[in-house]
Amino acid sequence: MLFQTQIDLKMRVITKVKEMQKVADELRKEGKIIGVVPTMGYLHEGHLSLIRIAKEKSDVVITTIFVNPLQFAPNEDYDKYPRDLERDVKLAQSAGCDIIFHPSVEEMYPENFLTYVEVEKLTKVLEGEFRPTHFRGVTTVVAKLFNITKPHIAVFGQKDAQQALIIKQMVRDLNFDIEIIVAPIVRESDGLAMSSRNVYLSESERKDATVLYQSLKLAEKLIEESERNSGVIISKMEELIKSKPTAKIDYIAIVDPNTLEKVENLSEGKEYLIALAVRIGSTRLIDNTLVKI
Ligand code: PAF
Repeated sequence: MLFQTQIDLKMRVITKVKEMQKVADELRKEGKIIGVVPTMGYLHEGHLSLIRIAKEKSDVVITTIFVNPLQFAPNEDYDKYPRDLERDVKLAQSAGCDIIFHPSVEEMYPENFLTYVEVEKLTKVLEGEFRPTHFRGVTTVVAKLFNITKPHIAVFGQKDAQQALIIKQMVRDLNFDIEIIVAPIVRESDGLAMSSRNVYLSESERKDATVLYQSLKLAEKLIEESERNSGVIISKMEELIKSKPTAKIDYIAIVDPNTLEKVENLSEGKEYLIALAVRIGSTRLIDNTLVKI
């Protein structure tokens, strides 16, 4: 394979759907457990942690690298989304990945592509309010990637908590015979959640971006100190975020982690998802924490 010789690695990079399906069929015939880690590339430590988890739980790890145009609205960052396949291949291999599936847009969405997968309700809130077509693009591509890589398990990150919940719902509703594993958020040393989009941040924006994590920590502290009113918690988080000159809040919400319904008053013995999206300059970042009371 040309690409393989160019970067002198043993790992297989597959670009065609049919070839990937054939390889997956052969692996299954040999009795191998296939783990898949779907990504849009520009891998960071967060992705590598997903690959390591997949490696622990399966015999062969396939990392998919595909910047999916379907999940970007026309005003979003599809064109400028960072891409570096050669770097990704090396990093994925160092984390234990065996095969990379890296199709072109034409390979995934040939002319006359007409079928979409849409999960209702869960896709309309939080991110869905600001990115109304986003999750339809995500579930469509993930369903396709599942049919192409034929995994037994698939690993997603908790950083995209809503995405992980929606994918679990799709897997349940459409009877995909795949175990979905959700892996913890990986953070930089100052708390910023790892994201391929962090590269967009200027030096001063990068400093301001830590406010997402700080506001989640503040919420956790308030809850620990017995604050149970979501409105109070959210307004204190807002106040902190607004103190950063480059920050603009899209939403902060305290929700049931299974239904994503907003909760006004927190009750003992329950778990809540505190999720937020904040624009730092022109870069939109999301983060969240799960809090058990
Ligand atoms: O989380 C992502 O990187 C993407 O949404 C995914 C799951 C790879 C689908 O394109």
